[in-house]
Amino acid sequence: FAKGPLAGRHVLVTSGPTHEPIDPVRYIANRSSGAQGTAIAAALRDLGARVTFVTGPASVPPPGGVDVVRVETAAQMLGAVEAALPAEAAIFAAAVADWRVMNAATSKMKKDGSGKAPAMEFAQNPDILAQVSGLAQGRPALVVGFAAETDDVIANATAKRLRKGCDWIVANDVSPVTGIMGGAENAVTVISGDGAESWPRMGKAAVAQRLAAKIAEALA
Ligand code: C5P
Repeated sequence: FAKGPLAGRHVLVTSGPTHEPIDPVRYIANRSSGAQGTAIAAALRDLGARVTFVTGPASVPPPGGVDVVRVETAAQMLGAVEAALPAEAAIFAAAVADWRVMNAATSKMKKDGSGKAPAMEFAQNPDILAQVSGLAQGRPALVVGFAAETDDVIANATAKRLRKGCDWIVANDVSPVTGIMGGAENAVTVISGDGAESWPRMGKAAVAQRLAAKIAEALA
């Protein structure tokens, strides 16, 4: 049996990018490595939680000792999240693609010799964080979102918290100069109804441990 402040608690973590198909061999993705989500899942596990880890195609392996659910697309991630509920806390660290290709081809697209490129139409993906935050029944007691921003980080993240209806937003600056996206370190500000708390730049594992401790405190 697990020991620790989160023993007997079920928590859900989403992580990684999603891949949105263009045709059977091509997709649209983003630069998320899954490192921060993976570290959070491991830290929650280390506090004794039963962790369901819903992950897109990440470049780091999932942690051991958690229930791993692998998905590719945002639509599949939403389905996996719904199937994993109820949970006492849900941490949405995935970098979900905002759009999917509407007219994805079922066989490989070919150049037709005309010199013309194909046109792509996009549809907006479901916002998993907003949907779970808005659940009238079965909403996790604590819903945590992330805000990867390049400008006006705190103002944008504060607005995002209200728009999405989550309890906390973990904001970070992913401007290329910070080296945070895909890097080993993170500098975050945790925004809750009580205000904004900026943490010093530290390794992603340290951010995860501090966040997991704060989650355990909130659920206590
Ligand atoms: O709106 P934005 O993508 O910046 O919001 C980021 C937060 O929302 C992250 O917590 C992310 O995991 C979550 N999200 C989601 N489903 C989406 C888009 C974002 O769960 N389709």
